[in-house]
Amino acid sequence: MSRKAYGIDFGTSMIKIYRKGQGVLLDEKNVIAVADRKKVIAVGNEAYEMFEKAPVNITVSYPVKCGVVADIENMQALLDTFIGQLNSRQLFGGREFYVAVPNDITEVEKRAFYDLIANSNAKAKRIWIVEKPIADATGAELDVTTAQGVMIVDIGAETTEISILSLGGIVLSKLIPVGGSKLDETIKLTVKKKYGLVIGDKTAEGIKKQLACAVLSPTESMKVYGRDVVSGLPTEMEVDSDMVFDSITEHLTTIIDAIKVILERTPPEISADIIDSGIYITGGSSQIRRLDELISGETGLRVNLVKDPENSVVNGMGKIMEDPSLSELAFSLKQANYSA
Ligand SMILES: Nc1ncnc2c1ncn2[C@@H]1O[C@H](COP(=O)(O)OP(=O)(O)OP(=O)(O)O)[C@@H](O)[C@H]1O
Ligand SMILES: [Mg+2]
Repeated sequence: MSRKAYGIDFGTSMIKIYRKGQGVLLDEKNVIAVADRKKVIAVGNEAYEMFEKAPVNITVSYPVKCGVVADIENMQALLDTFIGQLNSRQLFGGREFYVAVPNDITEVEKRAFYDLIANSNAKAKRIWIVEKPIADATGAELDVTTAQGVMIVDIGAETTEISILSLGGIVLSKLIPVGGSKLDETIKLTVKKKYGLVIGDKTAEGIKKQLACAVLSPTESMKVYGRDVVSGLPTEMEVDSDMVFDSITEHLTTIIDAIKVILERTPPEISADIIDSGIYITGGSSQIRRLDELISGETGLRVNLVKDPENSVVNGMGKIMEDPSLSELAFSLKQANYSA
């Protein structure tokens, strides 16, 4: 195994790169700003700053949608720009790569993640694939190689991946197109309907982070800025947590219903393990306040919050590359049979 290795998680909202022995090297918005003639203007957090502010000749976009690479060209350009930046800071050098892929997507979609690295300017010599739920559970410090069954739910930006693991493999896994971005979207719509205020995606996300709570709790409020629907002028307004609660509940219910479906399909011996150990929730959106309480109340199971939830996938890949006893959790392309 090479001394220098990297693990990449191409998330819908964030791109994260882990460097073996060192930890998370890069954690930025998975966003690219491109001008006419495909010239890359900015990537990552810098490109996100331009989101909803850029002039017409600059397009700011997220190349990963609902967990899969939707815009290969821009994703490649984004990755190459980051690798170029890391190279120039002498932070790059190794040629071994790990890439995390959702389980419940097609072989061709999985292969696209591999190709991004194979075709990048990183000159990869070896590329390993790790299924995201396996990486997540390993990052959550769970031992997935034993016969003890585990349920892990990664609530990200555009996706929620619900999985049952046992003996180092995936018993069941479902990827649903619901996550933090759906919550931002409904908050944005509700603010427009209820307050007559047009707000941007960033503001909606800010409202969610500050006011979203999964169970009804004492009302809190905050000031936000936007444009008045009627006058068309910039205005500030006070929005409250009851409005946020009402608008996000439906999406949280969708996630819980999907968890229940997976639990119903789980083999009984594994169910017994899950009753014992509880459900693990991770991903950035698992940080919605009191979400553990809501899921626990609805399923009757204990719910464990994973530490550093946004990074559990890359942290898991880190463990897999650093601990030789976990090497069987990563596959080469041939083993995984993703040849398209
Ligand atoms: N404190 C918080 N409270 C609620 N949501 C949060 C908080 N912090 C981050 N988030 C949300 O977490 C999401 C990002 O999480 P994460 O980095 O796990 O997503 P991702 O891996 O890019 O997406 P996906 O896994 O769906 O491809 C965003 O929707 C963000 O708004
Ligand atoms: Mg993710």
